[in-house]
Amino acid sequence: MGSLWGSFMLLCGVVLLRTEGSGTQQTKNNVPRLKLSYKDMLESNNLVTFEGLANSSAYHTFLLDEEKGRLVVGAKDHIFSFNLLNVSRDYVQIPWPASPTRRDECKWAGKDLSRECSNFIKVLQPFNQTHIYVCGTGAFHPVCSYLEVGKKPEDSVFRLESHVENWQREEPL
Ligand SMILES: *[C@@H]1O[C@H](CO)[C@@H](O)[C@H](O)[C@H]1NC(C)=O
Ligand SMILES: *[C@@H]1O[C@H](CO)[C@@H](O)[C@H](O)[C@H]1NC(C)=O
Ligand SMILES: *[C@@H]1O[C@H](CO)[C@@H](O)[C@H](O)[C@H]1NC(C)=O
Repeated sequence: MGSLWGSFMLLCGVVLLRTEGSGTQQTKNNVPRLKLSYKDMLESNNLVTFEGLANSSAYHTFLLDEEKGRLVVGAKDHIFSFNLLNVSRDYVQIPWPASPTRRDECKWAGKDLSRECSNFIKVLQPFNQTHIYVCGTGAFHPVCSYLEVGKKPEDSVFRLESHVENWQREEPL
């Protein structure tokens, strides 16, 4: 019993050390090698901008796919795929709003319908050779699915699987 407790303590120690270690490493790795302000970029006269969609915002989640030369971006109610060389050339978008039922529930819960009751895309995680795992807040009912992006750039696939996983805890009967 004594030795069991000892190994449990040791495990905790290892876990603590690990998290601390990765924390400092992450901070180090996150320091950009080059910083450009928006003003610097405007002045460089070499800027291609994406004006955005009237009904979208919160372009907060990014996944760089250098192999296919694309930048996948998660925003409010939409997922985008941009051409890395020119963001306004052949971008594609997939609308993925929260379902009307979820929006209604969210409104009844006293939230702001236009600002909060949306599907904010928060996760873009490479899954396998052809798919990205994608999750959104789904108006306070998180949803996840798979985004098909193809294997090669020529495939030019960008499609959200219709099967959606709902992250709801199952209540025991
Ligand atoms: C980017 O693409 C847009 C739309 O096709 C085009 O008008 C613009 O000239 C391109 N910009 C550059 C820097 O290639
Ligand atoms: C937002 O507007 C664009 C076109 O302006 C449309 O293609 C898209 O489906 C709309 N998205 C939602 C979630 O309504
Ligand atoms: C990748 O995962 C998706 C979703 O599970 C699946 O439909 C697809 O067949 C998988 N592709 C490969 C190449 O394994």
